[in-house]
Amino acid sequence: MNNQDIINEVRRHNDIVDVISEKIPLEKRGKNYFGVCPFHDDTNPSMSVSREKQIYTCFSCHATGNVFTFLMNYEHKEFNQVLSDLASRVGITLKGYKTKKISTKYDEWYKIYNLANKYYQNNLLTKEGESAREYLKNRNIDELTIKEFEIGYSLKNRDDLTRLLTTKGYSIDLLNKIGLSSENHDIYNSRLMFPLHDLNGKVIGFSGRIITNSKQNKYLNTKETELFKKGKLLYHYHIARDEARVKKSVIIMEGFMDIIRASTIGIKNTVATMGTALTKDHIKEIKRLSNNIILCFDGDEAGVKATLTAGELFKSEGIEVKVIMLKEDDDPDTYILKNGKEAFQGLLNNAIYYSDFKIKNLSRNRNFTSSEEKSNYIHEVLEEASKINDSIRTEIILKDLAKKFEIGYNTLEKSFKELVNTKEIKKEVNTTPKNVQPKKKDKYQKASLNIIYYMLNKQDIIDMVESEHLVFPTEDLRALESEIVYFYHKYGFINEADFYTYLTPKGELLNLLNDVLEMDLKTSLTKEELLDYFKVIREYNLKKTIANLEEKIKNESDPLRQVKYAEEIRKLRIGDVLKW
Ligand code: CTP
Ligand code: MN
Repeated sequence: MNNQDIINEVRRHNDIVDVISEKIPLEKRGKNYFGVCPFHDDTNPSMSVSREKQIYTCFSCHATGNVFTFLMNYEHKEFNQVLSDLASRVGITLKGYKTKKISTKYDEWYKIYNLANKYYQNNLLTKEGESAREYLKNRNIDELTIKEFEIGYSLKNRDDLTRLLTTKGYSIDLLNKIGLSSENHDIYNSRLMFPLHDLNGKVIGFSGRIITNSKQNKYLNTKETELFKKGKLLYHYHIARDEARVKKSVIIMEGFMDIIRASTIGIKNTVATMGTALTKDHIKEIKRLSNNIILCFDGDEAGVKATLTAGELFKSEGIEVKVIMLKEDDDPDTYILKNGKEAFQGLLNNAIYYSDFKIKNLSRNRNFTSSEEKSNYIHEVLEEASKINDSIRTEIILKDLAKKFEIGYNTLEKSFKELVNTKEIKKEVNTTPKNVQPKKKDKYQKASLNIIYYMLNKQDIIDMVESEHLVFPTEDLRALESEIVYFYHKYGFINEADFYTYLTPKGELLNLLNDVLEMDLKTSLTKEELLDYFKVIREYNLKKTIANLEEKIKNESDPLRQVKYAEEIRKLRIGDVLKW
């Protein structure tokens, strides 16, 4: 069997409905299955999965594909990995499958980072690493954790790593570029080294911590490169990905020592930014892990601020997170060290909603001596409560307020309702209907896509398109058509799902194929209908040829030639009439 045969076989044995429903709940409606699309933020079941066609389509974000692309996107894995997962899922061996590795310039970067990572880890075991080992021991980091987090040490000598890597043939320029050297010197000296992984688990940089009391920056991160962007990277994401699915939640912390500590007590559904505020890109990635998100930042003033900023940002993205607020001097690391696993688990179980945290926080550093101050505070709380979409929770908040300030519940409720009403009116005024225009396709494109759709479903239509020498209007349509014809002749059959796999490495044409698959047309069409589509395409070609000739006439100075072109146009028009 060649590669494509093996791929098809694996795909055919892994029913898309079964595979997807192992990841997200699907419900049968009519002949298709529906679920909440994991590729965009949604709560509605907008993803349809077809057992018959073995493809999925999201009507909202337009994600489309087959069982391979679903898992590649869902699990952030590469094709070959997914292929091997699915093969072992059904007990197929991939004997004879030849991995064509698509090499990128980054392969070399990854290799170097891996070498550096091994080198640092090894240093920790040497004599010079003794002080670092001592430091880790004092911080209660045991050997298992050191291994798990691949913690290493950079030596005092200012060019050890650079020398090692240049003798292996890597240029100084490259080492400078990827942030391991500067001129001929190492970037990191005498620091505890923590590798940073990208979302898929590849090492793409380091963070180095000082282990003595020095005035240097506590942590030094690899400079930003094409692979390492602080605004995108989340520490520990590649591990949290699987854990979050099991625990059905994800915890965000501030520092990676917090993550490492939590891991020692078996809490691994955690991520942290690299000392920066959360960005929208971070949030997008976090939302893919779970909708149940818990913020557990440091207990200091900065931690409170960071919690408020992050809570608002998540809210603007449609998610109300939960919050754990530690005491002033604690961070998750110190809290767990002092209080242990059970206590921390208790905090997690008792995490409060962000809006409750915010309301609690409103009364911080305030003394309610004047009636004005009280009333300001009450209005601020009502404002917050009005953003909560849960009448039980708002009632609890109002009752607490009534009790705290000894005001009648009815008075509070009246103000609250007024506030909610004015907000709703404002919202109605502001939401002028947005006309979301679907991509407009002209009739020629539509006819072409229709024909291609049926080519994928009915082989005799491929034969007709070939024998009629149909020429599609645009280059990408023609390219897609010739890929279909090629596939069909090579393998002797065609269907959407297998063709999708075949086309995936070819990149650009995939969008067009997605457009086709999304159409979901009726299963059969009559010969007349098909010929109508053909006619539309011919009409396009005719118009185009005529337009070209007219252009030639315009640019032609020789009147004889002009007449010749005009005659050609006339014939074309007559021919057209005769033909149809
Ligand atoms: N950070 C940084 N540069 C610094 C200080 C902090 O990049 N000079 C980042 C690190 O990613 C760190 C995070 O900010 O993990 C949180 O900082 P902090 O709370 O100071 O770090 P801890 O995780 O508490 O580290 P430690 O316990 O080793 O002090
Ligand atoms: Mn900290």
